[in-house]
Formats: sequence, structure tokens, C-alpha cells
Amino acid sequence: MKLATHCLAIAAVSLAFVGQAFATEAPADRGEYVARLGNCVACHSIPDAPPFSGGLKMATPLGAIYTTNITPDAKTGIGSYTYEDFDKAMRLGVAKDGHRLYPAMPYPSYAKMNEDDMKALYNFFMKSVPAAAVENKPSEIPAPLNMRWPLAIWNILFAEDDRYENKAGKDEAWNRGAYLVQGLGHCGACHTPRGLAFNEKGYDEDDAQFLIGAPLDNWSASNLRQDVNTGLGRWSLGELTEFLKNGHNKYGTAFGTMTEVINNSTQYMTDADITAIATYLKAIPGGREKNDNPYAYNAETAKNLLAREYTSTGALVYAQQCLSCHLADGAGHAPYLPPLAGNPITVDPSPASLINIVLNGTQRIVVDGMPDAYGMPQYRVLLSDQEIADSVTFIRNSWGNKAAPVTVKEVADVRKATDPAGDQIHILRMK
Ligand code: HEC
Ligand code: HEC
Ligand code: HEC
Repeated sequence: MKLATHCLAIAAVSLAFVGQAFATEAPADRGEYVARLGNCVACHSIPDAPPFSGGLKMATPLGAIYTTNITPDAKTGIGSYTYEDFDKAMRLGVAKDGHRLYPAMPYPSYAKMNEDDMKALYNFFMKSVPAAAVENKPSEIPAPLNMRWPLAIWNILFAEDDRYENKAGKDEAWNRGAYLVQGLGHCGACHTPRGLAFNEKGYDEDDAQFLIGAPLDNWSASNLRQDVNTGLGRWSLGELTEFLKNGHNKYGTAFGTMTEVINNSTQYMTDADITAIATYLKAIPGGREKNDNPYAYNAETAKNLLAREYTSTGALVYAQQCLSCHLADGAGHAPYLPPLAGNPITVDPSPASLINIVLNGTQRIVVDGMPDAYGMPQYRVLLSDQEIADSVTFIRNSWGNKAAPVTVKEVADVRKATDPAGDQIHILRMK
């Protein structure tokens, strides 16, 4: 079997309501707050099962595995874990019985946690989470690859287990942001590309690949560095905090696996923590774009569309299917109907997110218990691969956007991988 041809897949089931089973507002308990920062619920819960009882199927390059029961049930959960056992699982990826965890559990990030947070988190799981007797499901990784001892070697080669240490010369907000982004927030688990052995290529800002954008689960977790067009270079600190708090701002709206992050984690963060994250991200230089000519709006596209002069078949599909919401000038009605003009997502070198959202639509963002009024419709049935390739190519090259065209094969591949009738793990559906 070829190692790491695809990437870690995080199932995108609607967890907003699972999340609410354990809190509806900013948590008062410190450990519960740490659990929010770490977004444990997104992976360790599935709909219609007790919170944190596991069972989420995750694809890895070697085969599917399931998340485990981390409620304090003594037999099926982590009830028998001492604090030391818990710390070892969280930071070194070693379970109580000695078996090694797959790095689908982001322990290389959680390793950075400080002791206070780790203790608060442990107390929360032991004292506040209700025990649920739910058996763990065995992994579907075939023998002999399912042997877990090689993971010890993996850890030596790739994982770092040092706790975060404040960097001299950086202020408190920067350091708090670095701690959260590299550690509990495990942003790099999705946004940093992985190497041949599934290792993240870089765990902090000293590495050029850190947070530069990565394919994941048929989405593209976009570039979080300061590149001006495909990254966050044009976003102000306030616009970045707005996105993390509410799931949208004037540039775009959260979708795909990012919706889970907003729904279950970042919206619960204190203003100080969100600002710290934004402060840290704003300080990471770009690294992907060769020139730094920022996006400039071009009025030609809107003029042609309004005159019904279709410059390509993609323009015609856009006029028929997309224009009513995203408008002729590509401005949408931000922040709820996102713009496509000047939106970093639209010119991402990987078209995966664009193809996926047009095929499958979006799940609802739920902030403060209120689902968003608008979602992106699904075009899976209505549009052919050719029409989707044409319309996505059109939005990537209109209003001043510039990005490579999308091929029919790229659309066909995402269509197949996200086929609701196929043996896929994660189907995006609105609930
Ligand atoms: C990206 C998904 C993901 C997130 C987020 C995540 N986990 Fe995990 N976790 C896993 C997976 C997958 C496993 C099982 C790995 C295996 O079987 O090798 C696991 C295993 C564990 C284990 C080992 C339990 C056992 O005995 O099998 C503990 C403890 C744990 N997670 C706690 C947490 C806590 C606490 C958080 C939040 C701070 C968290 N996890 C967040 C995916 C995740
Ligand atoms: C009924 C209104 C509507 C129509 C029609 C529509 N969209 Fe959307 N679109 C939305 C909404 C709402 C979102 C944000 C959804 C979310 O993220 O939860 C969105 C998001 C997007 C995004 C992601 C941008 C971002 O930052 O969130 C792209 C790309 C996109 N649409 C392209 C298209 C294309 C191409 C078409 C036509 C084939 C189209 N849309 C038709 C409402 C619409
Ligand atoms: C489970 C995977 C996952 C994790 C974890 C994750 N993200 Fe994302 N993120 C995505 C995906 C996929 C997108 C692209 C879709 C979108 O724009 O919402 C994205 C988009 C974003 C965007 C919007 C970028 C743009 O150009 O529109 C920001 C900002 C962001 N993430 C910040 C973060 C931060 C900060 C963290 C850590 C606290 C984080 N993400 C953790 C998957 C993830």
C-alpha cells in the first residue's frame, strides 16, 4: 500500500448539536474551556451518542480508524487513567495499556500544553463529563500495518514533545497566540501540509511550510500565512477575530471542516484568546506567493454579465446558477452571502474546496445556538462535471481573481470521493 497518498480525513458530520449537549455558552469551568480550546468534542463525539463517547470514523493513509471513548467510564472509557496516564496519552501518544496512538489524535500539537491546562482538562473529564459505557471500535487498518510499535519510531522521527515555552522578545498576546495555534487549537493538523509519513511539515513559525495550506478530506485548508492573495495578508486583526468568532467576515465564510472549528471551538474563546490567535497569525510572513501585488477589483466581468455577454460557458453557468446570490460583481452580500471577488479561497492553488462546496453545499454555521440563515446549495445533481469545472474556472479568473483553471477530471475525482452512496466516511449534509 502506498503511504500517505491522501491526507488525514476528519469526518464532517454535524456536531454543532453534539457540542451543545455539554455547553451552550462560554464555559465557566476552566477545564471545560480547555476542552473547547482543544476541540475534543469534534473528534470524540458523533451525533445521537453521549458526548465524548467516541466512534467517529477517520480516514488515515493506512485505513480507517475510530476515535475512542474518553468519558470516565472505567471499562470502556478513560476512568482508570491517572493524571500521569492522561498526560502521557495527550502529549506522547501512548495509551494507559502502553499501545501507541495514531497521530490522527493530534498529540504532537497537544504536547505543547502547559501543566495547568492539562490538569484542568483531566479534572473536567474525570469530574464533569458523564461516564458512558460505549465500546471502542477496532481499527480497519489491515495487518501487518496495524502493528502499533512502528509508531514509536515515528514519534522519534517526527513528533516533538516539548511543552510550549514563551519566546523572548515577543509580547504576551503573541506568545499566548502561539501557544493556542501550535498547541490546543492544533490549527496545523489541518492547515500544514503533511509529508510522506503523515508527519506535519513544521510545528511552528520557524518552518516555511507551517500553516501554508494543505489538502484535507477533499477540502483545502487554506493558507493562514500573510500572503496577500491566497493567505490572510489583506485581513486586518479585527477581520480575523470576526471570522473566528462568527464564522464570517467581509472576505469569506467558514465552510467544510472549518465549520466544526467555529461551531465547537473558536466561538467559545474569550476575546483575549481570539485576539491572541489573530496577533500570532498576523505575524507569520507569507511564503507561497512570488510577487506581492495585492488583489485589485476589475469591473469588466460585471459589465459583461449584466450585458448578457458570456465570455465562456463558465460565465453562462455562473449567470444561471450563482449570480442570484453572489451577484454580477462577485461581491455577494457579505458577510452572510460571501463574496467571490478577492476572496482568498477562490484563488487557492488547490481547487478542492471550490469543487467540493459546489458539489455538496455547506453545513450550517451555528453561533450562540442560532444556525445561519443561509447555506450554499448543492449542485451535485443539477450540474455536470464539465459545468462545475467551467463555472469554478470562471470565478477563479473573474473580477480581478487569477488562478489556474479547473479540469473535468479534478471535479470527477471529488464527486466520486464524496459520493453519498459510496463507501465514504463523511457526507456533508445540512441537518
Ligand atoms: C482530530 C481528531 C481528534 C481530536 C481533535 C482529539 N482527539 Fe483524542 N483521539 C483521536 C483518535 C483518532 C484517537 C484514537 C487513536 C488510536 O486509536 O490510535 C484518540 C485517542 C485519545 C485518547 C486515548 C484514549 C484511549 O485509551 O484510546 C485520549 C485520552 C484522547 N484522545 C483525549 C483527547 C482530548 C482530551 C482531546 C481534546 C483536547 C482530544 N483527544 C482531541 C482523535 C482526536
Ligand atoms: C442560494 C444562494 C447561493 C447560490 C445560488 C450559490 N451560492 Fe455559493 N454560497 C452561498 C452561501 C450562503 C455561502 C456561504 C455558506 C457557508 O459557508 O456556510 C456560499 C459559499 C460559496 C463559496 C465559498 C466562499 C466562502 O468563502 O465561503 C463559493 C466558492 C461559492 N459559494 C460558489 C458558488 C458557485 C460557483 C455557485 C453557482 C454554481 C454558487 N456559489 C451558488 C450561497 C449561494
Ligand atoms: C479540521 C480541520 C481544520 C482545523 C483544525 C482548523 N481549520 Fe481553519 N480551515 C479549514 C478549512 C478546510 C478551511 C477552508 C474553508 C473555509 O474557508 O472555511 C479553513 C479556513 C480557515 C480560515 C479562513 C481562511 C480564508 O482565507 O478564508 C481561517 C482564518 C482559519 N481556517 C483559521 C483557523 C485557525 C486559527 C485554526 C486553529 C484554531 C484552524 N483554522 C483550525 C480546516 C481547519
